[in-house]
Amino acid sequence: MGGIKMISPGTNLYDPDLLKNLDWDSVKGCLSPPITNENTGENWLLVRPLQLEDFDNGYLQLLSQLTTVGNVDQEKFRNQFHAMQKAGGYYVTVVEDLRNSQIIGAATLVTEFKFIHECALRARLEDVVVNSTYRGKQLGKLIVLTVTLLSKKLGCYKMSLDCKDKLIPFYKSIGYKLEPGNANSMIIRYDQPSDGQKIF
Ligand SMILES: CC(C)(COP(=O)(O)OP(=O)(O)OC[C@H]1O[C@@H](n2cnc3c(N)ncnc32)[C@H](O)[C@@H]1OP(=O)(O)O)[C@@H](O)C(=O)NCCC(=O)NCCS
Repeated sequence: MGGIKMISPGTNLYDPDLLKNLDWDSVKGCLSPPITNENTGENWLLVRPLQLEDFDNGYLQLLSQLTTVGNVDQEKFRNQFHAMQKAGGYYVTVVEDLRNSQIIGAATLVTEFKFIHECALRARLEDVVVNSTYRGKQLGKLIVLTVTLLSKKLGCYKMSLDCKDKLIPFYKSIGYKLEPGNANSMIIRYDQPSDGQKIF
């Protein structure tokens, strides 16, 4: 391998060393060939924490393939980045194509402190997306497994996600299970009118 792979010298959202020595043995068989975040199989593919500089590397453009991003200028991005850093518990993780410095995949692990289960730490998976021109090459599995194994390393007792029915097989193929009796995800939205009815 060798070549161009190197850690970008930017401002990381979280400590990149946390991504070292994840327990890939525990998910053997999920990826074929068996790539990992530290050995992606390609010298131009780098898995790393989100960096402040990724505003200029297409991170928001990538997110717009998942949902509406809206008007986020550099200042808004910087403020939100620093708010996440200060709060802690936000592990936005990206895949960079080093040949053009573009962010081509992303997933967010959010951790949550609990009093239950003897003051446990719980994990949620959010905002998973791979650039449409790079799909079907295991990058989705790679980025989701990376943050999943990171949650394990951080000591979380469980990690959960919400997804559309059509993506259930994708998540099953990397070890996620539907929770019996708990398969529904329920919400109240504050950003859309709810049939003209006032909620509160
Ligand atoms: C879901 C997503 C991240 C998968 O990325 P990817 O790099 O193509 O995934 P991989 O190559 O690692 O894995 C592909 C596997 O998932 C399945 N898969 C991926 N997207 C799928 C979809 N939309 N519907 C059904 N199956 C899908 C593929 O059939 C493939 O299965 P196989 O391994 O048995 O062949 C990507 O399709 C994406 O960004 N979609 C738009 C955003 C989105 O829906 N995000 C998930 C929110 S929960």
